[in-house]
Amino acid sequence: MVRRRLRLLLLLLLFLCCLAGSRIASADTNPQDAAALKSLMKRWRKSVPTSWRKSNDPCARWDGVTCNANSRVTSLNLFGMNLKGTLSDDIGNLTELTVLDLSSNKDLGGKLPAAIGNLVQLKILALIGCSFSGNLPSELGNLSQLDFFALNSNQFTGIIPPSLGKLSEVTWLDLADNQLIGPIPNSRDHGTGFDQLLKAEHFHLNQNKLQGSVPDYLFNSSMNLKHILFDRNNFSGSIPSSIGVLPKLEVLRLNNNAFTGQVPAMNNLTKLHVLMLSNNKLSGLMPNLTGMGELENVDLSNNSFVPSDVPSWFSGLEKLITLRMQSVGLSGQLPQKLFSFPELEHVILSDNQLNETLDMGNNVSKRLKLVDIQNNKIASVTLYNYLKGDMLKLTGNPLCNDSVLSSTMPCTGQLTEYRTQPPPLPDVQCSDPFIETIVFRAPFFGDVTNYLEILHDNLSSKLKGCTPNNLGLVPSNDNAYLNVDIKACPVNQKRFNYSQVLKCFNLTLQTYKPPEIFGPYYVKAHPYPFHDKTSRAVLIGVVTGSVLLVIGLALIGVYAVRQKRRAQKLVSINDPFASWGSMGQDIGEAPKIKSARCFKLEDLKLSTNDFREINAIGAGGYGTVYRGKLPDGQLIAIKRSKQGSMQGGLEFKTEIELLSRVHHKNLVGLVGFCFEKGERMLVYEFIPNGTLSEALYGIKGVQLDWSRRLKIALDSARGLAYLHDHADPPIIHRDVKSTNILLDERMTAKVADFGLSLLVSDSEEGLFCTNVKGTLGYLDPEYYMTQQLTAKSDVYSFGVVLLELIVAKPPIHKQNYIVREVKTALDMGDQMYCGLREVMDPILQKRGDLRGFVRFLRLALQCVEDLGADRPSMNTVVREIEVIMQENGIRTGTSSASSSFSIDSRTTMMAAPRYPYSNASTSSTTFDMDSSRAFEYSGMFPSEGSLKNRST
Ligand SMILES: *[C@@H]1O[C@H](CO)[C@@H](O)[C@H](O)[C@H]1NC(C)=O
Ligand SMILES: *[C@@H]1O[C@H](CO)[C@@H](O)[C@H](O)[C@H]1NC(C)=O
Ligand SMILES: *[C@@H]1O[C@H](CO)[C@@H](O)[C@H](O)[C@H]1NC(C)=O
Ligand SMILES: *[C@@H]1O[C@H](CO)[C@@H](O)[C@H](O)[C@H]1NC(C)=O
Ligand SMILES: *[C@@H]1O[C@H](CO)[C@@H](O)[C@H](O)[C@H]1NC(C)=O
Repeated sequence: MVRRRLRLLLLLLLFLCCLAGSRIASADTNPQDAAALKSLMKRWRKSVPTSWRKSNDPCARWDGVTCNANSRVTSLNLFGMNLKGTLSDDIGNLTELTVLDLSSNKDLGGKLPAAIGNLVQLKILALIGCSFSGNLPSELGNLSQLDFFALNSNQFTGIIPPSLGKLSEVTWLDLADNQLIGPIPNSRDHGTGFDQLLKAEHFHLNQNKLQGSVPDYLFNSSMNLKHILFDRNNFSGSIPSSIGVLPKLEVLRLNNNAFTGQVPAMNNLTKLHVLMLSNNKLSGLMPNLTGMGELENVDLSNNSFVPSDVPSWFSGLEKLITLRMQSVGLSGQLPQKLFSFPELEHVILSDNQLNETLDMGNNVSKRLKLVDIQNNKIASVTLYNYLKGDMLKLTGNPLCNDSVLSSTMPCTGQLTEYRTQPPPLPDVQCSDPFIETIVFRAPFFGDVTNYLEILHDNLSSKLKGCTPNNLGLVPSNDNAYLNVDIKACPVNQKRFNYSQVLKCFNLTLQTYKPPEIFGPYYVKAHPYPFHDKTSRAVLIGVVTGSVLLVIGLALIGVYAVRQKRRAQKLVSINDPFASWGSMGQDIGEAPKIKSARCFKLEDLKLSTNDFREINAIGAGGYGTVYRGKLPDGQLIAIKRSKQGSMQGGLEFKTEIELLSRVHHKNLVGLVGFCFEKGERMLVYEFIPNGTLSEALYGIKGVQLDWSRRLKIALDSARGLAYLHDHADPPIIHRDVKSTNILLDERMTAKVADFGLSLLVSDSEEGLFCTNVKGTLGYLDPEYYMTQQLTAKSDVYSFGVVLLELIVAKPPIHKQNYIVREVKTALDMGDQMYCGLREVMDPILQKRGDLRGFVRFLRLALQCVEDLGADRPSMNTVVREIEVIMQENGIRTGTSSASSSFSIDSRTTMMAAPRYPYSNASTSSTTFDMDSSRAFEYSGMFPSEGSLKNRST
């Protein structure tokens, strides 16, 4: 109550003062100007700054008023002052005015008086974010000195007066975010027009209802345009080719209009860094952006271009941050190069026809946050361990129709429009923070985090003296522009006062230059409670002991990895014997098959797209391995023999017979086979993570840590032990090697390739073989010399694999033989195992924590003993590795003697892979499926070396 009374009293006083002021010409201020200001004050009533009401002399005391030596008002700067009311013709009496900034006064509006055209000295006219309405007076064209002209974010209606073409000095022209209609005036059709604004650098006409075509003669090469923002209007007709000759153009936004026809050549726009043509009706060929190497943000989405292959310029725009081309008819394959551009954050190519394998390569941008390829025709993806579920969006691709695959693939992402997740609110705390929004209009920002830090530093130094450290930024994204709220707290006082706000936050006039990347912006201040008298009192009283919390920016991008995955279903084989009868060609005795399925050639053709090259995942001497998908969704690997390969014929039979008998979770399962029209094909379960050799020393993203290596050793040992001891009759694999050990989606190892395997009948001690077969480097020397094959030969080869796990190199490399190399290294060290450092995998050394290493090494060396009798059996090997793991607290998983074609339940925990971009050493956490590499597959075939050795 007291406060209100005081206010009333004050108002009364002020009113009296004003009456007095109108009679007694104020001491200093030019009477004409003083009269004009006072007339304005009457309209704005009590919303004017208090200083206006207290003093009779505008030039001396009034906030926001600046005068020259002749006591003429030259500048009226009332940005963000909560003014309420309208303007009258009286404003036109301030004829010496050079700066008129009434921006960010939401309740200041009405029609813009024609008399504004009298302010012929005006250089800056900023009425941003008020509520002016009605037509733009054509008298604005008289402001021949005008340099900065911004009437954006009001409610102006009607056409753009052609007279604006006379503003020959204007560099900044902003009429955005109004309700303007009609065409952009041009001198040919309207007498005067924008084509005459040769000094203009900014045409911001976005978010209006402008219509009609944009004629070619609107632009010419003598113009200085940097930013053309025509987005969100109703422009039609074709994009003028003259845009392509503007030598300084940096930002071109024509999106969300009704432009038609072919996009003109723009290759000469070498400075362009933002190009947005999305949501138009553009047709013809997709624009050719070759040579536009500065482009950072490209959006060509939702146009009707002639469908085309992925253009070659995808590989040439090295500075790309965001590439958005939704629904433009792209097909073919994305180049790996695209993903390697160092700034790249977003690739959004949903709703196209991309149909080749998605393989982003190993060298992706560290900033990459989103690859949205939803609703394309992608049937296969090469996954790397840097890929997280929320980075890659694949919903709506053929590979997601597959129940098994889709659960291991980022298929569950929503189809919603991607938006920036604003980082959490930075906490600048005070009761009355001054808040203003900077609206950045050009780029599509993805992950603003990085940039906000730059912006914060940049603004802090700009606002130095106003808000040391008390500056927070809150980004939001209204889906068109990036809005950043500056939230500032005063120091040692409760509120900012007028002059502080004017001094510190008058960003309207573009005095603040943000980092280049932010592009054109404008500023809106939020209403600020200047008129609270108690605050005044506090201001004068200065410093209450309130120390304001200074909490810096906590801009941590939140990337929640919360992808719900579908529960995995067991894959069951539908009636494996159903089509058995159709089998039977001239192979002699038909293979004895227990539970493999006979496939029709037609079905396998269908599943591999007619054995397309693109589905080939491995090749060897006798044929090719293809990836395929059965109608029920199961992924398969098909080994297709070359026609007429006899050897293939034998191995074909062996493998079908063997594999159809053995079922173990550490052996690659045979799904079926096909024997038709001279084709011999074996159909395996698909093992997505490639071979052990690839994981150890191939091109791959997975790094195997020590405990996972132990697990792989255990898995494969179990598979072999099963063959030796549980299969009936026992089976000797004969080609144990790291390329025959495959890793599934949970990095469970499975032994593959039984083409060389032999059955061992109970009575025989060993087999006498005429041809020594196997792969160089893994070959048991005893077997080689005696030609006597026993299960211990597999143990030798397995020992070599164990050494590979330590050394991470092929068994024969640079004329070194791994067994000799390790033994020599051990002999050389004066202390035990010291010499081994030389040959050990650096990854293991770096990470330390090699629990049970010594025992493991000893086991490996036992396996590669010269005499078979000195080597342990596979069963012993299994038990020993289990003990090593148990003693060191590493889970071994359950050993199951046999399991059918079920995909293992997902309970096994494994050590997490090391992500290439984090230095954090991850120890046994859950292995993230999405981060594993899938779909690279070559292990089904013997290596060249083994083939050479094999053929007699
Ligand atoms: C502004 O100037 C016009 C004529 O130049 C005059 O009629 C009018 O009274 C002036 N307005 C004020 C508020 O002095
Ligand atoms: C681009 O510039 C070159 C050389 O300045 C010129 O010859 C060519 O015609 C220009 N291309 C277009 C499409 O304007
Ligand atoms: C795109 O332009 C470049 C150079 O301007 C040219 O070499 C290339 O052939 C063009 N590509 C297409 C598809 O027209
Ligand atoms: C991908 O689509 C293009 C164009 O339709 C076609 O030429 C090509 O053969 C397709 N590739 C595959 C693997 O289907
Ligand atoms: C606006 O800010 C600039 C510097 O940031 C300053 O020079 C200028 O005086 C300010 N304007 C007003 C009206 O205070």
